[in-house]
Amino acid sequence: MVHAVTQVGTGRGPILVTGGSGQLAAAIMALAGGRNLVRAGRPEFDFDRPDELPALLARLAPSLVVNAAAYTAVDRAEADAEAAARANTEGPATLARYCAQAGIPLIHVSTDYVFDGDKGAPYVEEDAPNPTGVYGATKLAGERAVLAACPRAIVLRTSWVYGATGRNFVLTMLNAARKTDRLRVVADQIGCPTATQDLAAAILAIADRLAAEGWKPEFAGVFHAAGSGWTSWHGLAEAVFQAAARHGGPQPVVEAIATADWPTPVRRPPDSRLDCGRLARVFGLRLPDWRHSVAVTVDAVFCDDPIPLHSALTV
Ligand SMILES: NC(=O)c1ccc[n+]([C@@H]2O[C@H](COP(=O)([O-])OP(=O)(O)OC[C@H]3O[C@@H](n4cnc5c(N)ncnc54)[C@H](OP(=O)(O)O)[C@@H]3O)[C@@H](O)[C@H]2O)c1
Repeated sequence: MVHAVTQVGTGRGPILVTGGSGQLAAAIMALAGGRNLVRAGRPEFDFDRPDELPALLARLAPSLVVNAAAYTAVDRAEADAEAAARANTEGPATLARYCAQAGIPLIHVSTDYVFDGDKGAPYVEEDAPNPTGVYGATKLAGERAVLAACPRAIVLRTSWVYGATGRNFVLTMLNAARKTDRLRVVADQIGCPTATQDLAAAILAIADRLAAEGWKPEFAGVFHAAGSGWTSWHGLAEAVFQAAARHGGPQPVVEAIATADWPTPVRRPPDSRLDCGRLARVFGLRLPDWRHSVAVTVDAVFCDDPIPLHSALTV
């Protein structure tokens, strides 16, 4: 699937957004405004068919690539390591080589799961990664491949991504509460929930900056880009139902449980909070407080507004 939104004929190539129907790619397209954006997804844009990518990229001739495509099924990746590596490592490397040859920037999205979560304080970009599973390991290898191949690469590590559409924790909670009045949610893992519309707004703000100022050496490298503040999965679930109450939504009992009571094939980082100071210093961007954005997202779900068309991103 390749389709364009609002071609404005700037004389420059479009911004190519990979990730097809994924929740982040959808939010970027929804916030496109008058920008020249093209979204590419499967089957036409498929990291499992790498031989076809160069011709597609040459035809689209983008001025910037935003890679929001990834193999994101954390547990399934353990038994599907080759597919995870194709999507999370080899595919991004191919994109990065194309961008380097074309002399254009690449914004590549990565994850807090490159860390083991044992630091006990918010992670900065210089902290040593130590992924606990195949997903995190393939994403870390993807970061490194992108940075090695493309001098104009910006790697945005984000976390706990949710939106009003797609597969995510917020919608899982709302759907589960329609079937049961008691939910058990892990309370001893903490992190920074990130709304798709906020990360999308940050990516577009970076794209605007690149278009206005051209490339600068300080733009290169890894940036943490997550919602402001932090909570546990249990705290996030409670905030979802507080917001849902304003719309007469379900009000289940949300029981706090320990990670040990909810075993998963892959160990999750117990504390993957991201320090986003570099994003603020270099790009002047601070994503909104997670509580505000959860409320905006839940409002969108209940108002049948598929994706919030605004973000309280601070620029
Ligand atoms: N979700 C989170 O909680 C989270 C947390 C931290 C970081 N991230 C990162 O944020 C980015 C965006 O994630 P998201 O939440 O938007 O994920 P998502 O909703 O699962 O979307 C991922 C997209 O990637 C596409 N994709 C998967 N394998 C592909 C392949 N082999 N070739 C081409 N496209 C492929 C999928 O296509 P189909 O629609 O065809 O399946 C899907 O559209 C990713 O880099 C992810 O690692 C996500």
